[in-house]
Amino acid sequence: MIKGSFPLKAFKALETPFYYYDIDLLKRTLETVKAESGKYGYHVHFAIKANANPHILSVIAGYGLGADCVSGGEIRAALDAGFPADKIVFAGVGKADWEINLGLDNDIFCFNAESSAELDILDELAAAKGKIASVALRINPDVDAHTHAKITTGLKENKFGINLSMLDGVLEQLTKLKHLKLIGIHSHIGSQITDMSAFRALAVRMNEVQEKLDTRGLHVEHINFGGGLGIDYHHPNHIPVPAFADYFAAFRQLLKLRPGQQVHFEPGRSLVAQCGSLISKVLYVKEGEVKKFVILDAGFTELIRPAMYDAYHYIENLDSDGQTETYDVVGPICESADVFGKDVELNKTRRGDLLAFRSAGAYGEVMASQYNRRRLPKAYYSDENGFEA
Ligand code: LLP
Repeated sequence: MIKGSFPLKAFKALETPFYYYDIDLLKRTLETVKAESGKYGYHVHFAIKANANPHILSVIAGYGLGADCVSGGEIRAALDAGFPADKIVFAGVGKADWEINLGLDNDIFCFNAESSAELDILDELAAAKGKIASVALRINPDVDAHTHAKITTGLKENKFGINLSMLDGVLEQLTKLKHLKLIGIHSHIGSQITDMSAFRALAVRMNEVQEKLDTRGLHVEHINFGGGLGIDYHHPNHIPVPAFADYFAAFRQLLKLRPGQQVHFEPGRSLVAQCGSLISKVLYVKEGEVKKFVILDAGFTELIRPAMYDAYHYIENLDSDGQTETYDVVGPICESADVFGKDVELNKTRRGDLLAFRSAGAYGEVMASQYNRRRLPKAYYSDENGFEA
């Protein structure tokens, strides 16, 4: 088995479970996304929902990216980390009044509006402040992302976005809302998408939306394609940096831009997943009648993706080079869903061994909970003293 390189000696002194971030890999990933998007002048806003760890955010902000937020808490986290307000976009189907006001007070770049009901409130709150809010309409493009049902969003009759069939009505409504300025169209079709044809279909669909706008004589300056680029969970060592070149090229090839139009993206997972690992200690190896169970001190409270989406994470035993054996790897939470993997091949595993869950930098630490009255996991970084691998 190919293993990642970890500062095992330093790990031994730490209380488990914890997250460990490879900051060099994060920086390499950010350099790649900057270079590939920069070829076409595309703008990149990091989707903070994937990882809101302040150190990670400040590294990303340092590369000049914008931020994609879905709550007032995320807007605050973005501002605290140094993302400029004029590069913050704010999406979400349920923006509370205080969250909208926070966006207005900070003059964020754009509200990605998801419904006609939201537009009315946005207009009312902007009017109360004597401001004009910039909005992009989140269009539901009815494109199948071919991904897990719980993380697909672009299909018809979804809670997200405005259906194409209702666009005319919303455009009509906008002519009456004097405190809103329509600056863009937005879409997001789902997450962990590895099939570029889904993105190609999205680009074509947005061309159609633009044609619709043309017929009404409307010109928008910004087109935002959301996030969604997937990563290789099975080969974190071979393919640590996702295929950003193919991703941006897919849009470049098909998009028909009007003069002066700016293109935006909101990647989350693809920027941070591979740089993070969850490190956990083996509490017990339980021999069942047929199976062997590795019982860890981490559970779905630290990494919920396997329990919630049946997601696969590559697991490796950092302490053992022994022959591989087959185990069910489980956590300590009092729920039968607290299983990380069944029939997992691991080097022979004993109590006290450290296991790494790879590709956990996105939707890992940020989704941790305190269920069973557990402590939230700590995080460590490769650029701290003492973590030289
Ligand atoms: N923009 C919008 C409007 C979104 O809803 C999302 C993710 C993104 C951008 C970023 O997408 P990404 O590039 O990360 O695919 N917790 C799930 C993923 C939920 C994604 C929600 N929306 C998971 O662990 O797989």
